[in-house]
This record gives sequence, structure tokens and C-alpha cells, in this order.
Amino acid sequence: MTFNFLLFGVYPYVAVAIAAIGAWARFDMAQYTWKAHSSQMLSNDGMRVASNLFHVGVIFVLAGHFVGLLTPEWLYHSVITTQNKQLLAMVSGGFFGVLGLIGLTMLIKRRMNNERIKANTSKADMLVLGMLWVQLVLGLLSILVSSTHLDGSVMVQLATWAQSIVILNPTAAAESIESVNIIYKLHIILGLGFFVVFPFTRLVHVVSAPVWYFGRAYQIVRQKREA
Ligand code: HEM
Ligand code: HEM
Repeated sequence: MTFNFLLFGVYPYVAVAIAAIGAWARFDMAQYTWKAHSSQMLSNDGMRVASNLFHVGVIFVLAGHFVGLLTPEWLYHSVITTQNKQLLAMVSGGFFGVLGLIGLTMLIKRRMNNERIKANTSKADMLVLGMLWVQLVLGLLSILVSSTHLDGSVMVQLATWAQSIVILNPTAAAESIESVNIIYKLHIILGLGFFVVFPFTRLVHVVSAPVWYFGRAYQIVRQKREA
């Protein structure tokens, strides 16, 4: 078994298994810890803009990943060519990636500069913020690499990896990705790391927040008192 196969053929399944089993165990044993751990109650300063920039950026990028990596070539060819799809990914992913990075950097600063929030920050919180920051930088760096080959062939290799993983063909997945630039590989290895840490951190809110957050009544967490 080659190292490439372990990283890109086996590790994806291990990561997803940890996410599923870990999340099930946490939901079963410690349901009240399943939350986004909002710090807005501790301080509202700089929260809204930073959090919104970050969330809008990351949610658009991840939606783009989902559609971009998992739509088969024959299907999207009825609306867009491979080359144009790569350009679209670079421009839209670049725009929302930069928004996300600005918001995230503001959130990290807020967390480190505010004593009340700092005291309430766990190692797991910092790990998630750090991982997201490096992941966004690697993603944005990948756009520079992609700009040196605009024919879309590498994007097809990356999508073949993702699609082969989904259809349970790890050998084809590992083979398709072997020759791509190290930046993409590091981005994917760290990206799978989010599945690994997901059940043990506040990242669990990513699956529950959309369901409970939009469906519930508006909640005022902290309101500035009128002078
Ligand atoms: C529709 C989906 C989502 C909703 C409704 C949502 C909602 C929230 C809420 C309510 C908070 C607490 C903010 C506060 O302190 O008041 C939060 C924090 C956070 N969310 Fe999300 N979230 C979503 C998706 C995501 C995704 C996809 C990621 C990353 C992959 C993410 C990463 C984070 C992080 C890192 C924080 C902590 C920020 C800090 O340092 O204070 N969220 N989210
Ligand atoms: C398992 C998780 C992930 C995988 C497999 C993955 C994979 C990829 C791939 C293959 C590309 C290059 C796209 C192309 O050239 O066609 C890319 C780009 C990018 N990724 Fe990810 N990624 C993951 C998670 C994330 C996360 C969590 C973030 C944000 C925090 C992120 C941010 C970006 C950005 C900003 C780009 C560049 C713009 C774009 O093409 O969308 N990625 N990702």
C-alpha cells in the first residue's frame, strides 16, 4: 500500500467514520454540549460584521465545493465548459474565500484581544479557528497554482478524486490525485481533518444550526441599553 493510497484512498473513509461515530456518541451522551458556543453574551463588540463576513464567505465556498467537486463532467457540460467552470471556481471561490478570511481574522483578533472572551476560549476553539485560517490560505493559494494551468484538467483530476471517494472506489481516487500540486494535497488533507475534529468541537453546530437556527423564534442575546 503506497503512502498516496493511505492519504487519499483510506484516510477519507477513516475521517468520515470518526465524524459519524463521534457525532453519534456526543449526541447520545452529551447533547447539551452540542452548540455553537456563542460568545455574543460576553461581548457584542465587532461580533456581527466579523461573524457574518466569515459565515457568508465559508458557506458560499463550501456550497461551491459541493456542487463543483461532485457534479460529473457530462452533466455540467450542458451549461458550462470545463475551462469556464475552472474560471468560475477561481473567481467566485476567490471572492468568497477572501471575505471569509477577512471575517475569520477579525474573529480571531476579537477572541485574543477581549479578556472575557479569551477566558472563555477552549483549546478546541483555537484549534478550529487556526485550522480554518490555514485552510482558507491554502485554498486561496491553490487559485494561484490553478492560474498556471487554465485548461481545467487538474480540476477534473480533483473532482475525479472526490467522486471516486463517494462511489467507494479508493483506488481510482488515489490514482487520480497522485500527480497534482502539493498545495491541493495539503488542502485536502487538512480539509478531511475537519471531519476528524468535528464531533469534539463547536463545529457540530454546522449540521444543527441551519435546522434549529432558522426555524426558531428570534432570540435577543444582548441588547445595548438606550442612554
Ligand atoms: C448555516 C450554517 C451556519 C449557521 C446558522 C451558523 C451559526 C453560528 C452561530 C450562531 C455562531 C455563534 C456566533 C456567536 O458567537 O454569536 C457560530 C459561530 C461559529 N461558526 Fe457557525 N454557523 C453555520 C455554519 C458554519 C460553518 C460552515 C463553519 C465552518 C466550517 C462555521 C464555523 C463557525 C466558527 C469557527 C464559529 C466561532 C466563531 C468565533 O470565534 O466566535 N459555521 N456559527
Ligand atoms: C474535505 C474538505 C475539503 C476538500 C476536499 C477541499 C478541496 C478543494 C479543492 C480540490 C480545491 C481546488 C478547486 C479547483 O481548483 O477546482 C479547493 C479550493 C478552495 N478551498 Fe477547499 N476543500 C475542503 C475544505 C475547505 C474548507 C473547510 C474551506 C474554507 C475554510 C476551503 C476553502 C477553499 C478555498 C477558498 C478554495 C479556493 C477557491 C475555490 O476553488 O473554491 N476548502 N478546495
